[in-house]
Amino acid sequence: VPFEIHRTVDEIRSRVVEWRNEGLSVSLVPTMGGLHAGHLALIKHAEMIADRVVVTLFVNPTQFNNREDLTTYPGNEVDDMKQLVTTGVAALYAPSPEVMYPKGFSTAVHVDASAGILCDRHRPGHFDGVTTVCAKLFNQIPAQTACFGEKDYQQLFVIRRMVEDLNLSILIEPVPTIREEDGLALSSRNARLSKEQREAAPILHQVMIDTVASIHDGLPISKALEQGASTIERTGCFELEYFELRRQRDLDLAHSLDEPCRLFVAASLGTVRLIDNVAV
Ligand code: PAF
Repeated sequence: VPFEIHRTVDEIRSRVVEWRNEGLSVSLVPTMGGLHAGHLALIKHAEMIADRVVVTLFVNPTQFNNREDLTTYPGNEVDDMKQLVTTGVAALYAPSPEVMYPKGFSTAVHVDASAGILCDRHRPGHFDGVTTVCAKLFNQIPAQTACFGEKDYQQLFVIRRMVEDLNLSILIEPVPTIREEDGLALSSRNARLSKEQREAAPILHQVMIDTVASIHDGLPISKALEQGASTIERTGCFELEYFELRRQRDLDLAHSLDEPCRLFVAASLGTVRLIDNVAV
C-alpha cells in the first residue's frame, strides 16, 4: 500500500483524527529527512507500539544557529520516500516552511532545564527551535506517542520536560542509538564527512567506551574524563566541545555513579559537528 503524503495541517490532522476515531493508535516519528538506519529504527519502534505511523519531514530553519549547516543539511525528499515505501509507514507529513511558519509567526517554546550546558552552550537558540517545532507537530498531529532517538539525548530531555510542563497529551518514546559496525553513531551529518574524517570519526565512540571501562575499573571520574578528552585532542583531528559525565535524570554534572549517568561528547571534524552519548 503506497503511503499518503500530506502537506497541510488540515489534511494531516483530519486523517489522524479519522484513524483515532476508528480506534487506531498513532505514533509520530519527527525527522528532518536524510533518512538512515537510525530513522528506520525509530519507525520500527513506532510500528511496534502503534497501528499507524506518521513520519514528518521538515528541515526546521529555526533550530539551525549556523546558516551553512542549514544550507548543507543532507537530505533529498525523493530518496527519503524511496526508503519510506520499504516500511509500513502510513503517512508522510512534509509541510513547507510557509505552512509551519506563516507570515507573522511570533511564538517560541523555551525550556529552561539544561539551558547553558552541553549543546545549548554551543548552539544558542537551537533547542528553542526544536521545542517550538515539536510543540507544533504534537498539536498538528494528535498521535498518542512520538519516537525520539537517544543519540540526541539533550533533545529528548528538553522535549520530555516540555511535554510534562505544558501537559501535552503525548507520550515520548526513547529509542536506542544505532551505530555503524565501527561504533560511529548514525547521523545525517555523517554523509558530509570526507574519507579521512570518516576513518577518524569512530575514535569518539571508542574513547567513550574506554572511559566508561576506566570509571568502572575504579579510576576517579575526573581523571578518566581528562584522559578521554586528551586522547581525543591528541589525535589532532577533532575540535572537542565537551566530554562530560552527567546524571541521566537532570543532566547535572555527575561526580559519582550513585545513580544512572551518561557520558556525553561533542566534537567537530572540520565543519562536521558530531555528538554522541552512552549510558554509564
Ligand atoms: O532530531 C531531529 O531530526 C529534529 O531535531 C526534530 C526532532 C525532527 C525537530 O526538527
